[in-house]
Amino acid sequence: MNILLTGGAGFIGSHTCVELLNAGHDAVIVDNYVNSKPEAVKRVEEITGKKVKLYEADCCDKAAMNKIFDENKIDAVIHFAGLKAVGESVSIPLTYYRNNLDSTLTLCEVMAAHKCKRIVFSSSATVYGVPDEVPLREDMFCKGCTNPYGWTKYMIEKILQGVVVSDPEWSVVLLRYFNPIGAHESGRIGENPNGIPNNLMPYITKVAAGQLEKLSVYGNDYNTHDGTGVRDYIHVCDLGKGHVKACDYAAKHTGCEIINLGTGVGYSVLDIVNAFQKVNNVPVPYVIAPRRPGDVDACFADPEKAEKVLGWKAEKTLEDMCRDSWNWQSNNPKGYEE
Ligand code: UD1
Repeated sequence: MNILLTGGAGFIGSHTCVELLNAGHDAVIVDNYVNSKPEAVKRVEEITGKKVKLYEADCCDKAAMNKIFDENKIDAVIHFAGLKAVGESVSIPLTYYRNNLDSTLTLCEVMAAHKCKRIVFSSSATVYGVPDEVPLREDMFCKGCTNPYGWTKYMIEKILQGVVVSDPEWSVVLLRYFNPIGAHESGRIGENPNGIPNNLMPYITKVAAGQLEKLSVYGNDYNTHDGTGVRDYIHVCDLGKGHVKACDYAAKHTGCEIINLGTGVGYSVLDIVNAFQKVNNVPVPYVIAPRRPGDVDACFADPEKAEKVLGWKAEKTLEDMCRDSWNWQSNNPKGYEE
């Protein structure tokens, strides 16, 4: 298939692009580089030995999106593009709603006009809100999100579900990601956050590299085995392979499926810090700090549906994730800026 990746130069998009090309698909990327670099796409081409057609455009720009669909026969879309910082979304909610919803609406209108009716969407475990119980299953009732970023994911799920109801020829797969970390084993592509990272693994790698002084562990009084927050960390290459399976599924089915992409195993913040230090033999100084508002005790997936419906299962270990995150950081101390 010829697959359009919106936001394909970003962390998850670039790793998924490698997996798609390795599986024999062709890829077209549209990205506005608000939180990514074209260099990532060059490196995807270097890793795979294949060419990617790249457009610099904003998915809210209907004329630009129409041009991409006019110039390419797109069989399916993976929609990664969107603003994604939880804290920032609380400060500038209108920007988040405008950008994430507008881009999705424009994309779907352009897809419909070009009779492209297959879409895989980057949703998030954040749509489960504060869970009553774990592991999280796709059929659990979502009581509400804790921030505007999460609400945009929730609303986009509703929009795409509505599209399928209106036109049953559509095929929609809503992938709810847990916590993607790690990097391609080549060390050529990886996570490259703007400024000081918000998320755990990129913060750890910058502390280990000496670029940040110490990690603040947000809370050690949670109801977990060591008191620190438990999450379902998934290797970004496993996640990329899940998208390949989702595209294959969308090509053969119509309707809408919601699918968790997680490992089903929860690790605490201290589990991650300890594994990282051991695997890489580098110290990660940390202090225990107050809880971060909005954080929950534990969040991990029931990954059974992905295996049953997509035939996909995460394969990489926590050691792989820690090693590959550090390999990327140590080979690219300034990310994509040489
Ligand atoms: C958050 C979002 C999720 C989003 C993901 C990736 C929520 C509730 N969660 O997940 O939707 O997809 O980011 O952007 O909206 N931690 C520290 N110190 C740090 C950073 C993190 O102790 O400096 C802890 C956190 O308290 C948490 C764990 O590490 O227990 C993971 O945090 P993080 O990587 O930010 O991801 P989530 O909050 O799980």
